[in-house]
Amino acid sequence: SLAGIDIRAEIERLRREKNAVILAHYYQKPELQDLADFVGDSLELSRKAAETDAEVIAFCGVKFMAEVAKILSPQKTVILPDLNAGCSLEDACPPAKFKAFREAHPDHIALTYINCSTEVKALSDIIVTSSSAEKILAQIPRDQKIIFGPDRHLGGYLSRKFDREMLLWPGVCIVHEAFSETELLKLKAQHPGAPIAAHPECPPTIVDHADYVGSTSGILNYAKGMDADTLIVATEPHIIHQMQLAIPNKTFIGAPGADGNCNCNICPYMALNTLEKLYISLRDLSPRIEIEESLRLEAKKSLDRMLDMAS
Ligand code: 13P
Ligand code: SF4
Repeated sequence: SLAGIDIRAEIERLRREKNAVILAHYYQKPELQDLADFVGDSLELSRKAAETDAEVIAFCGVKFMAEVAKILSPQKTVILPDLNAGCSLEDACPPAKFKAFREAHPDHIALTYINCSTEVKALSDIIVTSSSAEKILAQIPRDQKIIFGPDRHLGGYLSRKFDREMLLWPGVCIVHEAFSETELLKLKAQHPGAPIAAHPECPPTIVDHADYVGSTSGILNYAKGMDADTLIVATEPHIIHQMQLAIPNKTFIGAPGADGNCNCNICPYMALNTLEKLYISLRDLSPRIEIEESLRLEAKKSLDRMLDMAS
């Protein structure tokens, strides 16, 4: 039982004792963001995981993110508070089907969103995150044919922006898919001066109304630099915590789902991680991420290409 234990103090003690670094994504609960050594977007978290000299990486995020940490830092112990913290995009792209799709299009390269399994990374040529995708795509010759998976909305957004045809894998993020255009327009009418910032995982019905489109850290930077005093935020609403910390005198409103509020846009996978589970994972060094070595090396190639091309 955890009764009578000061969980925050225990996490503090364990993190020193085990030489652990705590990394958190912006979609984590505020209490996890607040005690993390570093909070960031997918690309920043990958870089931190590759650079840290800690012995243990406690990853407050979803499984594919913790797997990226392990791929880049195999000698480290990587723990994830809840191993069931998956991602609908990963689920939408089973490796065997992806492999068959690739084989059906041998003249295409696979440009793949980091939100996928290690197996799919191993079957891909270049990984991208939402903050690195545009820079990477700009470096690929225009006559090179591309398969983009598993997020069809990010792929569609890139395809329109670069006026470049790509074969899109039909996956979506269930969180960003749940925003309602009707409710967004109602909210905008109530806050006429407020810009809208959207993540490119949103469907075009949302992205087309956005004043800024970018990754979580991109949206956060937009919030820090904007003149307006209210911002409508069309991504997972836990990122608003960092906006309120950085810019306490402005108002941030989560874009609504069909029910008119932003609760249905909380990522159910990210929400599985809790302070209690973080404590237990640090105490037991479990659940742990383990990846078979030949698979890890294959997946590392496409990730290293991203890190090179994004720098
Ligand atoms: P970024 O933090 O890279 O924008 O990714 C968003 C996301 O959905 C992570 O699952
Ligand atoms: Fe996956 Fe969407 Fe959750 Fe990100 S917010 S982890 S893309 S389900």
